[in-house]
Amino acid sequence: MSSTNFSAVTGAFWYTGRYIAQKLLDSGREVRTITGHPGRTSPFGDRVNAYPLNFADPAELTRNLSGAATLYNTYWIRFPKGAVSFDAAVENTKTLLNAAKRAGVQRIVHVSITNPSVDSPLGYFNGKAQVEEAIIGSGLAYNIIRPTLVFGAEDVLINNIAWFLRRFPVFAVPGKGDYLVQPVHVEDVAEMAVSANGQGDSTIQDCVGPDTYTYDQLVRIIAATVKSGAWIAQVPPAVAFFLSQLAGLVARDVVLTRAEIDGLMAGLLVSDNPETGTRALEPWLQENRETLGRKYASEMDRHYR
Ligand SMILES: NC(=O)c1ccc[n+]([C@@H]2O[C@H](COP(=O)([O-])OP(=O)(O)OC[C@H]3O[C@@H](n4cnc5c(N)ncnc54)[C@H](OP(=O)(O)O)[C@@H]3O)[C@@H](O)[C@H]2O)c1
Repeated sequence: MSSTNFSAVTGAFWYTGRYIAQKLLDSGREVRTITGHPGRTSPFGDRVNAYPLNFADPAELTRNLSGAATLYNTYWIRFPKGAVSFDAAVENTKTLLNAAKRAGVQRIVHVSITNPSVDSPLGYFNGKAQVEEAIIGSGLAYNIIRPTLVFGAEDVLINNIAWFLRRFPVFAVPGKGDYLVQPVHVEDVAEMAVSANGQGDSTIQDCVGPDTYTYDQLVRIIAATVKSGAWIAQVPPAVAFFLSQLAGLVARDVVLTRAEIDGLMAGLLVSDNPETGTRALEPWLQENRETLGRKYASEMDRHYR
C-alpha cells in the first residue's frame, strides 16, 4: 500500500538519522527510511520501513520518495573509499535531490557541518559546501543544519578516543592540541532538524553544543572519565597520522584520516554563532563512563562490511 505525507529519513537505522526518526515518530509523523542497509534490523520494529538508497537507480529512488512531504538527509561519507570519492558523494546527493524533486517532496532538511567552504582544500568540507549550494539552488524549501562534532551513544570519535585511552599506555594528540571543538549532543541535532522544518522558511543554522574545549582538554576529560593512566603526548601531525594507521591495523578500521587530522587542527568543528544545544558533554560522559570506549566503533563495520 502506498502512503503519502510521510517523512523520509536517510540512515534511520544508524546514528543521526535514527535520532531524527525517533523525534519524528514521537511527534506523530509517519517515517520511512532510505538506507544503504535496508536489510538491517530496524530499531523501530515495523514502525519504520526501509527502502534502498541506491544512487545507481534514480527511478527507484524517486519511487521510494514518492509521497514524502519532507526528506531528512544525513547521507555523507567520512572518507573516500573505492569508487566513492567526495566528488562522487556530491553527485550522489544531487541524484537524491533530483529524485526528491521528481517525487514531489516539498522540503529537504539537510545535515551538513560547521564551516563548509568551496574554497576548503579538505574534501569533506568542500563537498559539503557544494551540496549546500545544490540544495539552495534546487527550488525546494530547505533547512540546512550544521553540527560541530556530534556525540552520543553511537558516536565514533569520542567513543574511540576512550577505547584507545582504556587500552594503550600512550595517546597521541596531533600538534599542540590547542585547536577547538564544540561537541553537540545527537539529541540536540535531531531536535533542531525536526523543529527547523516547522519554521516554514528556508534556513541555515549552526548546531553547536554549550561547551568549547581544546582537543587536548577533550582528550584529558575523556581520560579522566574512563580512569585512563595513558600518557597524553603531543606529537607532530605526521606522527599522529602514522600512529593512527598502526592503530587501524589493530582495530581493522580507518581510525583517523590525514584530512580529519587537518580538519580538527583547522578548528572547523566550532562555531562563532551562539550555542544551540543544551546537553553538555561532561555530564553525558559521566553518565556513560562504564560503557564509553568498551567497544570499538568501527566505520568499516558500519558501512562497508
Ligand atoms: N558524526 C559527526 O560527528 C558529525 C558531525 C558533523 C556533521 N555530521 C554530518 O551528519 C550526517 C550524519 O552523520 P552520521 O555520523 O550520523 O552518519 P551515519 O549515520 O553513519 O550515516 C548517515 C547516512 O550516510 C550513509 N553513509 C555513511 N557512510 C557511507 C558510505 N561510506 N557509503 C554509503 N553510505 C554511507 C549512511 O548509510 P546507511 O543508511 O547504509 O547507514 C546513512 O544513510 C552526515 O551528513 C555528517 O556529515 C556528522
